[in-house]
Amino acid sequence: MPPVLAPFPATRLRRNRATPALRALVRETHLDSSDLIWPVFVMDGEDCATDIPSMPGVQRLSVDRIAKAAVEAEARGIPAMCIFPYTDMSARTEDCALAWSMDNVANRAIRAIKDAAPNIAVMTDIALDPYNINGHDGFVVDGQILNDETVEALVKMALAQAESGADILGPSDMMDGRIGAIRTALEGAGHRNVTIMSYAAKYASGYYGPFRDAVGASAALKGDKKTYQMDPANRDEALRLVARDLSEGADMVMVKPGMPYLDICRQVKDTFGVPTFAYQVSGEYAMLKAAFANGWLDPQKVVLETLMSFKRAGCDGILTYFAPEVAEALNG
Ligand code: PBG
Repeated sequence: MPPVLAPFPATRLRRNRATPALRALVRETHLDSSDLIWPVFVMDGEDCATDIPSMPGVQRLSVDRIAKAAVEAEARGIPAMCIFPYTDMSARTEDCALAWSMDNVANRAIRAIKDAAPNIAVMTDIALDPYNINGHDGFVVDGQILNDETVEALVKMALAQAESGADILGPSDMMDGRIGAIRTALEGAGHRNVTIMSYAAKYASGYYGPFRDAVGASAALKGDKKTYQMDPANRDEALRLVARDLSEGADMVMVKPGMPYLDICRQVKDTFGVPTFAYQVSGEYAMLKAAFANGWLDPQKVVLETLMSFKRAGCDGILTYFAPEVAEALNG
């Protein structure tokens, strides 16, 4: 129920907006560097970086550079980083065996970050796409994405990541039953305190294009992901997915993409009251960067306003490629 207001002029809503001090006092939502999870791209090599043309300002970094970035993130008060691997085309296979190798570049990056910046929580991505010859998140046989066989592989991936020291596992694959299977395996292996942030409501979105360039999946991907990622038209289904993943042992849930799905964020938070995160994905980042590059929008204002909208929609935190600059701005 909206509050009942005395009629004008007894009520003048502008009174509380008259000065910065008053505005600060009545501010309902706060954005802090502790709200940020920084997604980063890691690749093989030493002391090197490559640009990602569709994500200006974002680079793929070698493991040693990722470790340095983690030290900087820690200094800026960013609590978590999320690692996405770039795998050379020649290392991608149909059986995706590299996905659960302890020595793949993602698992090496986890260990390097934990060594360099022990206070940073390391989040991972669990899905087969960086290792899959056809760019899908699951095994493909006769054009079908296999569910149960993929879940077995995801469990192996999860265990290797937990073993490498990951704090937060992020299953982004949208297979059915994976949260329960991963939770059971973690408990069985003694990884009792590894958190799972389920990509619970992940939509089959056009906004992932630049990310697929970043991990080298664009060229590889055959077809689309609509048999496992959600239809952008659906809202009830998002709630069922969140309920299902929580019941299987997810500790946190995510809505993805972010800004086009703020209604889903709000409803998830209101319905379940659990730690809720949004992923401001690569296409959202690219759109904003393009407008900034043209001088059409002011980054100083728009980035903070955009991230605030996630908080206002009920999110506890945001995965955003803007994390380092935002943390800098908020601390400054
Ligand atoms: C794949 C994955 C994707 C993203 C995160 N994990 C892309 C996809 O599902 O094709 C997208 C992130 C972004 O666009 O920034 N498992």
